[in-house]
Amino acid sequence: MTPEPITETEAASAAASGNAATDRFRQSGKLAHVEAAQERVSMLAGRLIKAANDIVLEEKVSYDEYNALKAWLIKVGEDGEWPLFLDVWLEHSVEDVATSHRKGNKGSIEGPYYVPDAPEQKCPATIEMRPDEAGTPLLFQGQVRDTDGAPLAGAKIELWHADEEGFYSQFAPGIPEWNLRGSFIADEQGRFEIHTIQPAPYQIPTDGACGQLIAAAGWHAWRPAHLHLKVSAPGHELLTAQLYFPGDPHNEDDIATATKPELMLDIQPAAAGDGVQTTYDFVLDPVD
Ligand code: DHB
Ligand code: FE
Repeated sequence: MTPEPITETEAASAAASGNAATDRFRQSGKLAHVEAAQERVSMLAGRLIKAANDIVLEEKVSYDEYNALKAWLIKVGEDGEWPLFLDVWLEHSVEDVATSHRKGNKGSIEGPYYVPDAPEQKCPATIEMRPDEAGTPLLFQGQVRDTDGAPLAGAKIELWHADEEGFYSQFAPGIPEWNLRGSFIADEQGRFEIHTIQPAPYQIPTDGACGQLIAAAGWHAWRPAHLHLKVSAPGHELLTAQLYFPGDPHNEDDIATATKPELMLDIQPAAAGDGVQTTYDFVLDPVD
């Protein structure tokens, strides 16, 4: 079953994007691989419970605070915001653990808004966008190589990103299904050339449970502008990454802690036509 599409009449809201992200996760097939060894569950759940109890005892948490927490956790579920909450505040550590052995490219979190099987095109290509899509034209090009420097012919680059309003297709209303999403096949030299637009900085929804916490704590809700990517080639580890734009005020204080210096783009004026261009080469680790 495919997730319920978000309709035009639904407002862009935390509950709409949260519930879409929750549906997407349920249908992603990610849970098919989970094997829970009893000892591991007991150790991890036990440590999490102990950490929470330690905080209560050390910080002398009151019943009012305990009840506020209970109400908030209930609301995270009602708003469908568990994927958003976990991807913002925890996924970056999981990603670090998963990729620490790599010699090739640094990666970054997937986030809640990936959709598999976006329409495929051979490079050079233009990502699907509305005829009047707002935003600075961006030519994104580069080469995919292995850790020995050999080009990876026919590598696949999946790209998805927010529009100029900071919204993602399939998670905000009124945007065509595959807008600013695509799968791009590199040439015989592993080179790719993709025309798109520069995404805007992204604010995680402020009208749901996560937004409520951010406001109550006096934090901000911003992620810097970013391109999401999955880069793959047979015999190589899948790279999930994000690329960032220099000068964005939130590169240094990303709410999702997902920026890395190695993932910063070098943005130049376009050599042809309007807008800007950037070259970024990916290095994939072999599967061992
Ligand atoms: C979230 C949104 C993103 O676009 C992203 O890249 C990471 C996290 C979120 O809302 O949780
Ligand atoms: Fe994102």
